[in-house]
Amino acid sequence: MADAGFKSTGAVNRPLHHDSALEHVAGTARYVDDMPEAPGLLHLAFGLAADGHAKLLSLDLEAVRAAPGVVIVLTAADIPGVNDVSPVKGDDKLFAEKEILYPGQPLFVVAATSVAAARRAARLGKAEVEPLPALVTIDQALAAESAIEDTQVMARGDAAAALAAAPHRLTGGLEMGGQEHFYLEGQAAFATPGEGGQLHVLSSTQHPSEVQHLIAKVLKLSHADVTVEVRRMGGAFGGKETQAAAYAVACALVAAKTGRPARIRADRDDDMAMTGKRHDFAVRYDVGFDDAGRIAGVRIELASRCGATADLSSAINDRAMFHADNCYWLPAVEIVSHRLKTHTVSNTAFRGFGGPQGMMAIERVMDAIAAARGLDPLAVRWANLYAPGRDITPYHMRVEDNVAPELIEELAERTDYDVRRAAVAAFNASHRVLKKGLALTPVKFGISFTTTHLNQAGALVLLHADGSIQLNHGGTEMGQGLMIKVAQIVADVFAVPVERVRVTSTRTDKVPNTSATAASSGADLNGMAAYNAAQQIRARLADFAADRFGGAPEAVRFTGDGVVANGEIVPFEALCRMAHIGRISLSSTGFYATPKIEYDRAAHRGRPFLYFAYGAALSEVVIDTLTGEHRVLAVDILHDVGHSLNPAIDLGQVEGGFIQGMGWLTTEELVYDDRGRLLTHAPSTYKIPTASDRPRRMDIRLWERGRNAEATIHRSKAVGEPPFMLAISVFSALTHAVAAAAPGKGLPSFDAPATPERILAAIEELKARDG
Ligand code: MTE
Ligand code: MOS
Repeated sequence: MADAGFKSTGAVNRPLHHDSALEHVAGTARYVDDMPEAPGLLHLAFGLAADGHAKLLSLDLEAVRAAPGVVIVLTAADIPGVNDVSPVKGDDKLFAEKEILYPGQPLFVVAATSVAAARRAARLGKAEVEPLPALVTIDQALAAESAIEDTQVMARGDAAAALAAAPHRLTGGLEMGGQEHFYLEGQAAFATPGEGGQLHVLSSTQHPSEVQHLIAKVLKLSHADVTVEVRRMGGAFGGKETQAAAYAVACALVAAKTGRPARIRADRDDDMAMTGKRHDFAVRYDVGFDDAGRIAGVRIELASRCGATADLSSAINDRAMFHADNCYWLPAVEIVSHRLKTHTVSNTAFRGFGGPQGMMAIERVMDAIAAARGLDPLAVRWANLYAPGRDITPYHMRVEDNVAPELIEELAERTDYDVRRAAVAAFNASHRVLKKGLALTPVKFGISFTTTHLNQAGALVLLHADGSIQLNHGGTEMGQGLMIKVAQIVADVFAVPVERVRVTSTRTDKVPNTSATAASSGADLNGMAAYNAAQQIRARLADFAADRFGGAPEAVRFTGDGVVANGEIVPFEALCRMAHIGRISLSSTGFYATPKIEYDRAAHRGRPFLYFAYGAALSEVVIDTLTGEHRVLAVDILHDVGHSLNPAIDLGQVEGGFIQGMGWLTTEELVYDDRGRLLTHAPSTYKIPTASDRPRRMDIRLWERGRNAEATIHRSKAVGEPPFMLAISVFSALTHAVAAAAPGKGLPSFDAPATPERILAAIEELKARDG
């Protein structure tokens, strides 16, 4: 396949380390809170609502104002513009006014001369409240019909008729918990007042433009008065897509009111209590199928806890619906999605953006069918894969790039699936306490923002007279390696070493009106915009060289040895200098808008995605049926990143995504009390995977034949989120192991995360079953 005109001269598809790898390790990479202290710097802390849903009668801040070191205390009454830090619906207040919606909601902010003084003072606020009933759980919200928007339905064909006519029929359900982002760098911001009321704000955000726009809205400024800058985040995972805004806006407000620089870094416990998480979901399914386990019709009902406000919950729950098919053809399907409003912190984007929850639903259906028919789960999955003539998604998009069958086949062969499965069965037959499980699950993940207009990006490439290059684009770096990938793309255009490209901060005064770095689309969008900018400069240089040395501009070649024009070889830096003297513009903006996509949200129909990313994983686990503990013993992954921009970065994304997904489904458990207070707000009670939880054997490979069928940048594919869902294989393997503890009793009723308590409870329930 022609690579859409991309002729690589070497910088792309190379396993270069992260551009900041050395700085990360040496501790010299600067994050927001590492910036040198400016004279007069104020430190901020939020005063938080202690209890949940309540009427806010009055707020007594005398003691806060009188506390040592306090310079200013601000509430909703001090906001010159609109009290709104929400991404879409205008329902997230910077500070509560008449009603407290959830525990941990900010009531005021205090600015003091030290971090300790601000934090101490923030605890002295006295809120007089009248407690109101709190809806905390999915069940409570469902019963009260409390929702952030109407229940959505996505359908194709007549599911009810297909269910009624199917030879076999099963119903069941599954619950899965939420997930804390646990970025290592907490939420942080640093605002500096400039002249004429202008503001410069460093923010640890995935979405500098939105933070800029919200600061302008709250402070009643124009967008042009506010510059937001992000060099890097210490992890984000979706948790800084919308919820970084409150911190940045609070700093901007204090800076504007006092004329002094203002900074905030959330304490870990506050960060965990104040910020939203992955949505927890409850799923019900009703599926009809034939003897071979092939689905005839299915109805899937999804319910999620959105929290107190809308945040991005509409799009997240849409994505859950978009992925409730995963890799499978559902001949007649109805997907119903309830988006529940509760008096808990507003849940938000998290790697996969609802996709993992939707996929968990259909993967449970696969395991349930296999158990009911006594079939191998992989055989059931295989029988249901999309295939020619069976290739229309529930949202009526044709799957044109389906490589799932090839990936699964290759992985199953490489890992000797049948032999491994037999070995697990033999182990289980001869062990009483320990039981093993094995599962191979695939992933198909749609790439593009499902809100179509977000699929655009801008870049600004500056070529200096000495031949060095500065690269700006709208994407942000959160550790995922976006900057090195885009630098490789630009270096490749000029055939120069990537070291010549200086990565710069993302700034709203360089590239405006950007989308969040999210939906895994950072490299697709910004890479193409930067490519476009670099190509324009390259064309000018080629014209100039042809003019100077003779020959046609098209014949000018950029090579590792220099620029070749009419037999002359000119070092790249020499050509830049000549072009500058020759009065040629050496900078350019670039732009990209994703082609082909359109979506009718009212009908839930269209082509929301340009393409799909695919992968497959085989996981082997062992459980201890007496303690409920488990270990993931071995993991084999085959993942499609198309033609990789950087295989080292991509492997890191696959591994990190998988482990993070494993954490979600196994050890990470969020517990709320009946007022909606998060009880697990520190690493002492919330368990993310550690180095010792890494499966002892992990074999991760990028699919060598991978090429994007669509004309993406160098035919690459997005990689940030899709591998997260490979971890569903761990949960499926655990389900298999639990089932092995009571052979012949069917599929356990087993919810995520698979904590020891849940594993034990599932075994008990299974053993107590009849037959
Ligand atoms: N990798 C690291 N190291 N840190 C992160 O915060 N975020 C993930 C993923 N990989 C994240 C990460 C999420 S949620 C997304 S959407 C993508 O990176 C965003 O970056 P990309 O679009 O450049 O892939
Ligand atoms: Mo990622 S959840 O789209 O920030």
